[in-house]
Amino acid sequence: MFKVPPVAAERLPALLRAMPKAELHIHIEGSLEPELIFALAERNSVRLPYASVQELRSAYAFTDLQSFLDIYYAGASVLLHEQDFYDMARAYLARAVADNVVHAEIFFDPQTHTARGVPIETVIMGLHRACEDARTLLGISASLILCFLRHLSEEEAFATLEQALPLQDKFIGVGLDSSELGHPPEKFARVFARCRELGLRRVAHAGEEGPPAYIWSALDVLQVERIDHGVQAFQDAALLQRLASSRVPLTVCPLSNQKLRVFPDLRDHKLRQLLDAGLCATVNSDDPAYFGGYINDNFTQVFAATGMGARHAYELASNSFEASFASAADKRAWQHKLKESFERFVEYD
Ligand code: HPA
Ligand code: ZN
Repeated sequence: MFKVPPVAAERLPALLRAMPKAELHIHIEGSLEPELIFALAERNSVRLPYASVQELRSAYAFTDLQSFLDIYYAGASVLLHEQDFYDMARAYLARAVADNVVHAEIFFDPQTHTARGVPIETVIMGLHRACEDARTLLGISASLILCFLRHLSEEEAFATLEQALPLQDKFIGVGLDSSELGHPPEKFARVFARCRELGLRRVAHAGEEGPPAYIWSALDVLQVERIDHGVQAFQDAALLQRLASSRVPLTVCPLSNQKLRVFPDLRDHKLRQLLDAGLCATVNSDDPAYFGGYINDNFTQVFAATGMGARHAYELASNSFEASFASAADKRAWQHKLKESFERFVEYD
């Protein structure tokens, strides 16, 4: 085990920004900045119900998950052509590189687009091309995870999977997102079983607003390999023990939890307790264009609010590589890079 050297408190934000990390919970439609929404609306002659970037931004005052989702789906309505999906993903990946993200596993919501008549090939090919170009031009590795919208039926999820299968080599797995309450994981038991047979990786949002029971059923019924959010696990000691011993990761998103009033005050966030209980927790941005920050803002703000230190920083970055679906060789290389970044940091201290 790497012995994390002490780092002066005032140097911690710089260390958090400098350390290499993986981002595993980012909805690409949630990276669409208001400026790009307006540029794409103009390019595609889409009429928006907002007069200006400022007016749109001022509508970003959320009270819960649903109040956010309503605006998030409206923002995505400007995406029509393959180049639009490419431009959106390219902008996110460039921003991620600036935060020293070396690997990203990116969610996308095909049903948001196919419902408006956009072919699924347009969505997947645009995003995939951006991931490929980012590898060669920006030096970041990136892959795609197709999410089913849980407020829609399992039948519709199956239809989406069928449409996507000819492009199966362009995404690594499936997830489950959108309105959680009233839509438990078990609603999607059959489609996740099929995805497992197909060799797809599986994740699901559970325990964001929903109860610990949804985390149990994501694990036991859907057999997911990661839980997205999962912060409500703090209410259930047996679940904490299960997550700690299995090392099934949680992709935690502090600023999202604050803005959607899961933990309205970041000082009450449970990330530190989850880590200290031995869980493989990670830090991520969820929908950075809507929640006021990218991954490094999530790190610096939750550390400032909860008083975590260098040991937690190391653990979180190391967990992000452990939790990723990348190859063992890539994981080893990133873990090595992480150790080097900590050692370099202390030398300069
Ligand atoms: N939860 C559920 N669905 C989502 C989210 C989220 O935080 N972001 C985008 N879709
Ligand atoms: Zn999410």
